[in-house]
Amino acid sequence: MNPRELKPNVYWVGAVDWDRRLFDELIPLPNGTSYNSYLIKGSDKTALVDTVDPSKTYILIDRLNQLGVKKIDYVIINHAEQDHSGSLPDILKIYPEAKVITTSKCKTMLINLLEVSEDKIICVEDKETLSLGDKTLEFIHFPWVHWPETMITYLREDKILFSCDLFGAHLATSDLFVKDETKIYESAKRYYAEIMMPFRTIIQKNLEKVENIKIDIISPSHGPMHNKPTFIIDAYKHWIFDAPQNIVVIPYVSMHNSTRKMVEYFAESLIAKGVTVKQFNLADSDIGELAMSLVDAATVVIGVPTVLAGAHPLAVYATYLVKILRPKLKFVSLIGSYGWGGKTVEQLASIISGLEVKILDAVLCKGLPKKEDFDALDRLADSVLENHKGI
Ligand code: FEO
Repeated sequence: MNPRELKPNVYWVGAVDWDRRLFDELIPLPNGTSYNSYLIKGSDKTALVDTVDPSKTYILIDRLNQLGVKKIDYVIINHAEQDHSGSLPDILKIYPEAKVITTSKCKTMLINLLEVSEDKIICVEDKETLSLGDKTLEFIHFPWVHWPETMITYLREDKILFSCDLFGAHLATSDLFVKDETKIYESAKRYYAEIMMPFRTIIQKNLEKVENIKIDIISPSHGPMHNKPTFIIDAYKHWIFDAPQNIVVIPYVSMHNSTRKMVEYFAESLIAKGVTVKQFNLADSDIGELAMSLVDAATVVIGVPTVLAGAHPLAVYATYLVKILRPKLKFVSLIGSYGWGGKTVEQLASIISGLEVKILDAVLCKGLPKKEDFDALDRLADSVLENHKGI
């Protein structure tokens, strides 16, 4: 398995996982993923930047053997999550002289998660540097992309930023560098929505750390490398900083078609008023698509039937996802049908408590929706439009 050269004496030695379809037993991976690891041969020292998922350790080792690597002086660990650190114990067995370079928070995690020996680990401060001879690594603390211990690493002479999960994409590809910008934009946006969006405000504050350095290549931990870095940096700026758009996302579930009739009527009413609608049937939706739609939306309206005394569990799930993904939306409401009563509104409102959103009046009807219910949906659509004008 051949390593691939990014720049002289800088190699990609990672693994492409074409078959993986789920991450964290939660996140769909329709296009697989990759675990990027990089070998840097300096004139004096050799460093490995991150490792790979433990299921692919044999690929990393094979690529290092192909390069004839007899000694690794440093293993740079930007992030303790096992898809990047999981091969570290094996690497330390094969290269026993290697020292692990990481943040102090990551040190604790590596000891807890992987039982790495404490005396193997050297902690680095923000902006600390490490010389490999003719190549210099600078460590930039960049917490919460997407765990608290994360850092990114800059190779000064070659102007390569090893950006950890930041700017990544779950995409299995044989392309070392981005070729199809449309495809990578979709994959990177999906990745941002699922992984990075909850930390949007922290990334806002830290993004200037990468704007102040000259970058030729961004080498993230997943997906192809960016040799036109402004493409992905500008995309992040748009997702993070720009105001939400005139979009309503409607995740819904319907058992006997009453809630479906309400959702369809409401969607048509919004569209007639010039609002963009993204509708997801929770019974068979890809939650990654739902997450992506939340990146730009100003409003979420949950379509929810009442089951027993409360909200349908799929609507509870969707509402909880909206809460934990923390999108930049401004307004939330719900519509749906009930049989004999229940506490659906109170239940979903308590789930999203803490989100800085305005709650618009819910529209609930008993059984099949009737004329007065459709009129109420029109009024909710008017309210959405009016509120969107104020963004
Ligand atoms: Fe790709 Fe947070 O690990």
